[in-house]
Amino acid sequence: MRIALGCDHTALDMKRFVKAHLEKKGLDVELFIPDENDENHDYPVFAERVANAVGNGACDAGVLICGTGAGMCIAANKVNGVRAVNCSEAFTARLAKEHNNTNVICLGARVIAPEMAVMIVDAWLDARFEDGGRHARRVALFGDIERNNRG
Ligand code: RB5
Repeated sequence: MRIALGCDHTALDMKRFVKAHLEKKGLDVELFIPDENDENHDYPVFAERVANAVGNGACDAGVLICGTGAGMCIAANKVNGVRAVNCSEAFTARLAKEHNNTNVICLGARVIAPEMAVMIVDAWLDARFEDGGRHARRVALFGDIERNNRG
């Protein structure tokens, strides 16, 4: 499984912690992060790169970290086929996979500790979408919204 991991300047330390954790689990990690010498650390730039990698199938799932997770989540959800959720606890992370089939999870480096971040990511990665019933019907409606609102 290949994970796209992105962050902005607020989350470089948490990104290192999460990356090490994912690699310890045997997952491949592709980084989408600001260059330390780069002036532009704007979170939508990295959110779009991760969301594209997931949307086009280059990566199986995405993890995005900024100060709150909010900006990353808003930006990632602009990409067709991406279902991103912002989580600060594991219960929502698990249900966001089981019910919503999210393919990107967003975290806030200014909100939660790194240990909590990996607990949330594990709950999300270990969960499985409950396909074939009411949840599949509802998730399909996300696609309808995308098609109805194309410019
Ligand atoms: C950057 O200061 C901050 O706005 C960003 O990391 C994130 O929290 C946005 O949602």
